[in-house]
Amino acid sequence: MRPPTRPGSFLLATLLLCALLGLGRPLSCEVCKGYGPTCTGKMKTCEAGKDTCVVLVGESSTKGHKSVSIYKNCMKLSDCYSGFVSTTMSRDDYMVTNTRCCQSDGCNRGTVPLPQNNRTENGLMCPSCIAPFQETCPGTQAARCVGQETHCIYFAGNVQAGIFNTKFATRGCATESACYTKAGAEVPSASYLYFLRRADCLPAPWPPGRAE
Ligand SMILES: *[C@@H]1O[C@H](CO)[C@@H](O)[C@H](O)[C@H]1NC(C)=O
Repeated sequence: MRPPTRPGSFLLATLLLCALLGLGRPLSCEVCKGYGPTCTGKMKTCEAGKDTCVVLVGESSTKGHKSVSIYKNCMKLSDCYSGFVSTTMSRDDYMVTNTRCCQSDGCNRGTVPLPQNNRTENGLMCPSCIAPFQETCPGTQAARCVGQETHCIYFAGNVQAGIFNTKFATRGCATESACYTKAGAEVPSASYLYFLRRADCLPAPWPPGRAE
């Protein structure tokens, strides 16, 4: 523990911090995206309401086709989760991401480490489906959860890939950290930007015969 500082210097430091953070002044963040674990781009002034810079590195598998990608931009602090998220819809369709959210100009320069990708099944299962262009999906398949995935998600909304914007619905396994994402959020992932209309997240039930 540091010795306590004088109240006056604490107040001064607070005022100085506010001035340095430029409260009221828009934030600027580095903006880029691409394949691979790094990218560099131009600094952009964030639009109103976007008070946070984000840098995200993701590894995803789509029908067994794997890729690593990075995303840097402005976003809303309330939509931004700093840390690790893992989702699994099937053996060949999953995504793991590492994200850092920060709130000073250009703080999203550089990168974050590649997320861990533990594919070991943990015995939990969730209803699963992937339905592009749909508002709902039935979840009649079962996904086998891996690593730290202890929750089942049902996300639906719109997904933007480049200039292409379409509805989607999906269900599967996820880490508890995925529950941070709420309906109404605009969240980046490995290669797409999602606008979530529905974001259900519940603890995964044990499969029948396994436990209570
Ligand atoms: C990977 O996940 C399995 C299942 O949850 C767990 O038992 C194991 O300890 C994990 N391995 C690492 C290296 O985290």
